[in-house]
Amino acid sequence: MDAAPHPKVVFNLNAGTIMRISTLILTSALASLQAHVATADNPIVQTLYTADPAPIVHNGRVYLYTGHDENGATTFVMKDWRLFSSADMVNWQDHGSPMSLATFRWATAQAWAGQPVLRNGQWYWYVPVRHTSGSMAIGVGVSDSGPTGPFRDALGKPLVMNNEIDPSVFIDDDGQAYLYWGNPNLWYVKLNADMVSYSGGVNKVALTAAGFGARSGNNANAQRPTTYEEGPWLYKRAGKYYMVFAANCCSEHLGWSTGPSATGPWTYGGVMMPTQGSSFTNHPGIIDFQGSSYLFYHNGALPGGGGYQRSVCVERFTYGANGSIPVINMSKEGAPQVGTLDPYMRQEAETIAWSSGVQTEICSEGGMDVLSINNNDYIKVKGVAFGSAGAKSFTARVSSATSGGKIELRLGSTSGTLLGTCSVPGTGGWQRWSSANCTVSGATGTHDLFFRFTGGSGELFRFNWWQFAQ
Ligand SMILES: *[C@@H]1O[C@H](CO)[C@@H](O)[C@H](O)[C@H]1NC(C)=O
Ligand SMILES: *[C@@H]1O[C@H](CO)[C@@H](O)[C@H](O)[C@H]1NC(C)=O
Ligand SMILES: *[C@@H]1O[C@H](CO)[C@@H](O)[C@H](O)[C@H]1NC(C)=O
Repeated sequence: MDAAPHPKVVFNLNAGTIMRISTLILTSALASLQAHVATADNPIVQTLYTADPAPIVHNGRVYLYTGHDENGATTFVMKDWRLFSSADMVNWQDHGSPMSLATFRWATAQAWAGQPVLRNGQWYWYVPVRHTSGSMAIGVGVSDSGPTGPFRDALGKPLVMNNEIDPSVFIDDDGQAYLYWGNPNLWYVKLNADMVSYSGGVNKVALTAAGFGARSGNNANAQRPTTYEEGPWLYKRAGKYYMVFAANCCSEHLGWSTGPSATGPWTYGGVMMPTQGSSFTNHPGIIDFQGSSYLFYHNGALPGGGGYQRSVCVERFTYGANGSIPVINMSKEGAPQVGTLDPYMRQEAETIAWSSGVQTEICSEGGMDVLSINNNDYIKVKGVAFGSAGAKSFTARVSSATSGGKIELRLGSTSGTLLGTCSVPGTGGWQRWSSANCTVSGATGTHDLFFRFTGGSGELFRFNWWQFAQ
């Protein structure tokens, strides 16, 4: 797919006439994306480049914490972390950026791969960043207002610093918490109950071939005798402890090991995900949700994607009867939907299964809204359950500093059955919100719903939330 992104200028007038320049635009790849859009749900996010997934299940939702590759970067340029959530594994709500480099006064760069955990009502988010000394360090963000933050610097300094990266946090059944991290080595500390200090010193894991597989052939490396490279992810399932990790370099694959305790000893299991997908790194995050198991990872599958413009994806998988992890291929289809989406509840416009051309920003009414809506851009929402009685009307919360445009409501594709067309008027400002309402017909059963945006040239309108009525 030849899909070099071209620059797009967004005039963001709400924040004091600040001009934002963005280079991520997917319209050049619109035709090729539409070819597979009916089934594609990977990558999970199309509005920006994401990397290093850290999923966590909380109150019936999956919260997916990611890094963020800057558009057009030619090395790792990462300044903030992002959060998305979903109740069904396919429609993902954008929560914006709950934490950035600016959270840590002592950090200068490299908002790399972290992982959050919940303890005693507080969310602790362990992240690697570059310290003013030049060394990579592990910082801790903390939120006492839920998974979406905001997060503040828990310590005002690194929790631990040895110039290695990629923290993974795990709380065992007995309440003992562990923090692993490392590239090229693998380290851990036993966290105290306060989650921001540790006891027993910094421990180095013996990387043995029995534990992590021998590195061989083209990947042989005197400094790295085993396949372990970076990105550890520690968890416990059915009495077994799993250490999954990015392996070999470069390009990386994902590997797995198991052990009888959170500190091993580890036994190498094999390859979990082969080298695939046009990013020379990968990074695992594994959860169980609603009775199924999921692997989150990243690749370079978005238009303009590659090693420094990565995108987080997900696959469902099934453990072997003995607890083994199968070989999982990357796919465009992603995981199947869990349940359906209720169109009669208010849904955020930034809850998206797939989109083309649009971006998100902080909304003056709270949460996020969708901006950068141009003629022929669209948003797909998957598995929308209209029921047998069906919908009679549709309301969209919208704004426009120009003369607005239209939202076509279509089933199955951007050219599928038209349920209705909602006119969006000018509202006198990009953050002056009003509700547009229109009648719809033919909206029964369960379908993928496409919002196809039409109008003149330039940015047409912004979109905060929507709701159907019966
Ligand atoms: C575990 O099961 C898998 C297949 O499900 C098999 O390939 C593997 O050899 C088994 N491992 C052990 C240690 O029995
Ligand atoms: C993964 O892809 C390889 C190569 O195309 C194929 O041989 C294998 O069957 C696939 N595995 C699964 C589980 O789909
Ligand atoms: C749209 O307007 C009609 C008439 O005022 C109202 O009955 C309906 O509830 C509105 N639709 C939504 C989704 O709010």
